[in-house]
Amino acid sequence: MNLKQWDVIAAKYIASAVKGAQYPVPAMEEIAFIGRSNVGKSSLINSLTRCRSLARVSGSPGKTQTLNFYELCAKRMLDEGEDRRTFHLVDLPGYGFARTAKDNREQWSVFIGKYLENSENLKLVCQLIDIRHKPMDSDVACYHWLMDCQRPTLVILTKADKLSKGAGIAQKELFKREFGLDDSRIIIYSSTAHTMRNELIAKIMDYID
Ligand code: GTP
Ligand code: MG
Repeated sequence: MNLKQWDVIAAKYIASAVKGAQYPVPAMEEIAFIGRSNVGKSSLINSLTRCRSLARVSGSPGKTQTLNFYELCAKRMLDEGEDRRTFHLVDLPGYGFARTAKDNREQWSVFIGKYLENSENLKLVCQLIDIRHKPMDSDVACYHWLMDCQRPTLVILTKADKLSKGAGIAQKELFKREFGLDDSRIIIYSSTAHTMRNELIAKIMDYID
């Protein structure tokens, strides 16, 4: 059977939540985006959905403060007919925001921790890291936390347009060594150039039933 490529054909904002009672009903399979403040989580959601302002983007860190749920519809053509899936993307508040008070940081870990540990619908966590940086303690800690929660994780190196291709590939190799990843679990992305958009959508769809 000749399976054609998945594409995202519709996206809409569904809900924001700071506690379980506010999670959307009906629940759907979820793909979550986690990473330091300002790494480009909300921009990536806009790039994947081709919506310029679906998720709010800001130059100053700490913009996203709640779990934000977006409903996506993806479609691919089959030899006969087509195949559609509807699922949720979840934009999480960033970690490592220096100006956030200690109390807020603790609240962050409790709230996001509960979600990551308990969500039955969560199929994949995409951990975003700025491609220009060395692995930071908070990124390494987050990655190990996801491993402890036994969550399938994909590392996305963001803002690839800010580095030359060669420098980007060198950074990818560094992260592969540091995190012990093979090529299937790391991808380079630019939300301004939308490079690797089809590849990332294909990877995400591998986790949606
Ligand atoms: P918080 O909600 O604060 O946790 O941030 P976030 O991770 O959602 O980051 P956001 O998408 O708001 O982007 C932060 C800044 O980085 C904005 O100024 C974006 O325009 C910029 N940015 C995000 N992705 C890219 C990218 O791929 N390339 C470039 N050049 N800039 C980007
Ligand atoms: Mg954001």
